[in-house]
Amino acid sequence: MPKINRYEDIDQVEREAKKDYIDRHSAFVQCASEAKAGEAFAVTVKIGDQYAHPDDTDHYISTVTLYNKDSKLAEATLFAGSLGGQGAKGNTEVTFNVVLEKDATFVAHAFCTKHGLWESDSVEVKVA
Ligand SMILES: [Fe+2]
Repeated sequence: MPKINRYEDIDQVEREAKKDYIDRHSAFVQCASEAKAGEAFAVTVKIGDQYAHPDDTDHYISTVTLYNKDSKLAEATLFAGSLGGQGAKGNTEVTFNVVLEKDATFVAHAFCTKHGLWESDSVEVKVA
């Protein structure tokens, strides 16, 4: 018997598709929760958690930006092919080394050339 889609099933499929879409565009800030004042501190921004974003000539992640509260700290520019091009399976991942003097609140942005700007959750870092 063929699979027959019903409203509930379609809704479920759409929900999964949306989860995929949201996941592959979302920025995730990864770093330690404490830093030492005046020393280099690594902050990695990964785009996508369970799903990888495409790396096609007309559809790729072009910038990854790191903010501390209202201050723009760093930005990486990427080009199509940085993950191996069409069919690539990896996630965009950028590590910024920043120096902090006081507690920080990081937020990252990722820009998709087709689907616009996406913001991470904020991440707090204590500086001692
Ligand atoms: Fe996209």
